[in-house]
Amino acid sequence: MSAPSSESKIIDGRKLAKKIETRVKKEVEDLNERGISPCLCSILVGNDPASKLYIKLKHKACERVGITAKDFQLSADVSQEELIDLVKELNKDQSIHGILVQLPLPQNINDKKIMESIDTSKDVDGFHPLNMGNLLIGNEKIVPCTPHGIIHALEEYNVNIQGSNAVIVGHSNVVGKPLASMLLNRNATVNVCHVYTNDLANFTKQADILIVATGVKHLIKAEMVKSGSVIFDVGITEEDGKIYGDVDYENVIDKCSLITPVPGGVGPITVATLLEHVIQSTKISINDT
Ligand code: GUN
Repeated sequence: MSAPSSESKIIDGRKLAKKIETRVKKEVEDLNERGISPCLCSILVGNDPASKLYIKLKHKACERVGITAKDFQLSADVSQEELIDLVKELNKDQSIHGILVQLPLPQNINDKKIMESIDTSKDVDGFHPLNMGNLLIGNEKIVPCTPHGIIHALEEYNVNIQGSNAVIVGHSNVVGKPLASMLLNRNATVNVCHVYTNDLANFTKQADILIVATGVKHLIKAEMVKSGSVIFDVGITEEDGKIYGDVDYENVIDKCSLITPVPGGVGPITVATLLEHVIQSTKISINDT
């Protein structure tokens, strides 16, 4: 039997995102028929080019599926109190179903205080401590988009989670920590590694499912992965106008069974999952869950 082609090993994030968008679009139409117009409101603080791009991609995706997208762009010197006041206004506004504050925020703002100020039922990022806490105890309500998107992809590609060895590299609140909980909730054995981990390869070589979210270009080399593993590359590094992931894709693809490309992998799935969360929060607002 011949070895599977490289193409058949690719987790096509754009294709999966389209599939999710088709589902969401239908849900939006159903809600519209009931006189409800799902609406996401994003807040961008400062001028970080990457954050600006992400917000633009999220808004374009909303447009494609018929979700109304509102946007606040605040200058980098906005105070924490002003930002919290804006969030509180949006919490009260019944025409807004989802609130997203793009991270990272400037140094003078405590992002935990901002996440705490978002109404838990409008927290489409799933970053509020109550939503995070519920996730930790296996009561998944609104969960963070990137980990949720990775779970969608594992399901779509029929990857067995229960009993598998999952290794996450990167312990952020946005990806690593919530993903660890989601995988544990599905009975994987989970190791979470990070910048202080000794002998990283010792862990990654054991991984049936490897998720890398560090932002370190090509951190993961072919000799660090297990044959037949499933790999999600969350990292994005821009260098001389080119985009690189955290995984040395060209060399790793020969060894793994499935892998997400960068770009076109985790990114589009994350955005599509956000749209799903806007529908989820809209339904919560009308007690239709
Ligand atoms: N910055 C990087 N990823 C994310 C995300 O999923 N949500 C928000 N709000 N900010 C981010």
